[in-house]
Amino acid sequence: MNLQPNIIDTIRSRASSGTTQNYYLYHLAPMRKKLAQLVEIMPQGVEVFYAMKANPHHAFLQAAKSGGAVGIEIASLGEAHKAIAAGFSPSQLIYTGPGKSKEELHWCVSEGVRTIHIESLVEAYRLHQICLDLNTTQDVLLRINANFDIHDAQTTFSGGSKKFGIDEEKLDDALPHILALPSLHFRGLHVYAASGVLNVDDLIQNCRLVFQMTRSIESTHPAIHCDIIDFGGGFGVDYEALGHDFDLQAYAKRLDDLIAEFSFEGRHFVLELGRYLAADCGWFCSEILDIKASRGKKQVICAGGINHFRRPAALSINHPMTIVSMHKPAIFPEQESISREPVYFGGPLCTSADKLANDVWIESAEVGDIAVFGLAGAYGLTMSNQEFLSHARPEEIVI
Ligand SMILES: Cc1ncc(COP(=O)(O)O)c(C=O)c1O
Repeated sequence: MNLQPNIIDTIRSRASSGTTQNYYLYHLAPMRKKLAQLVEIMPQGVEVFYAMKANPHHAFLQAAKSGGAVGIEIASLGEAHKAIAAGFSPSQLIYTGPGKSKEELHWCVSEGVRTIHIESLVEAYRLHQICLDLNTTQDVLLRINANFDIHDAQTTFSGGSKKFGIDEEKLDDALPHILALPSLHFRGLHVYAASGVLNVDDLIQNCRLVFQMTRSIESTHPAIHCDIIDFGGGFGVDYEALGHDFDLQAYAKRLDDLIAEFSFEGRHFVLELGRYLAADCGWFCSEILDIKASRGKKQVICAGGINHFRRPAALSINHPMTIVSMHKPAIFPEQESISREPVYFGGPLCTSADKLANDVWIESAEVGDIAVFGLAGAYGLTMSNQEFLSHARPEEIVI
């Protein structure tokens, strides 16, 4: 993994302070660039929201705003407050996720959140009651657990038994309930298939199946018109350096063709992108505190582990990484170092699950150097086990 000079300079200048290094470094230019490109090339009717669960840091929200995102996809009241603090209005928020509490729904309805994406009939009735109490109506989408999935995605959100949405086969029973609730204004469907998809064919095939489902629902239930179709997130990034990035141009062109094929012009198509926008804006930088040779393999211990960067362990992958050398004097003469070998990287936690990377080929590394993990801007600190062992929270530095 190559680092830009501004990133290396920041890492070196911070290390010169002599304190233990363990932080996230953020640089938001890639996110702004990708948003500008999305705005420019996506077909008419496509609206890009930032899924802030990928990284709720203020700088990411501000970049989403200045970069031209239509709004923010939230999944909790805490996220809503952060989005508002970054300058978004409630009417720019869309609310998804299973298990929304009464308080969260109440806040969304009373503040005027744009759409609430219903995940079950219980949620529909709960929301209806809250609207009655507030004497108002609410625009909703219905989240569907489609009967298909994207097989080689990192994580799937539909197909099989899932906690997300209502099973596609149950729609004919469920829809009349929702349509009969006068305070819910049905606007369309939400079908989020999978996260981390690099293959455009797979995502477009998913869009085709969602369009077919839309047609079928509209013909079975003539009272329904889905003027919003939400595909969720899912655009992947090339964590494993397979050499192919997500082909945005191809996706935009093929979605445009699909919209024309189904004569779906005039509808709104929502993308809730997290990883694609945020991943390459962040690096997890952690000082190498120890290196040991253990039964044929070098174990490298960093200042932070899965408490600060859990993603590699959670998904059993290695993120791209590199070492920034600090040329610190050895603490004692026989000190181990790394020279052209595959090694294991872990953190300071007392669990063997505390893995940052395994079998990574490292040219050279010494105690005191900084291990830098790339593509860490999305689902980095936000999905880590921060409280485990009560280490200090890593700083988040924006440059
Ligand atoms: C409802 C919803 N929308 C959007 C996203 C963002 O997905 P991604 O980061 O793959 O773009 C997620 C991720 O879990 C999600 O659950």
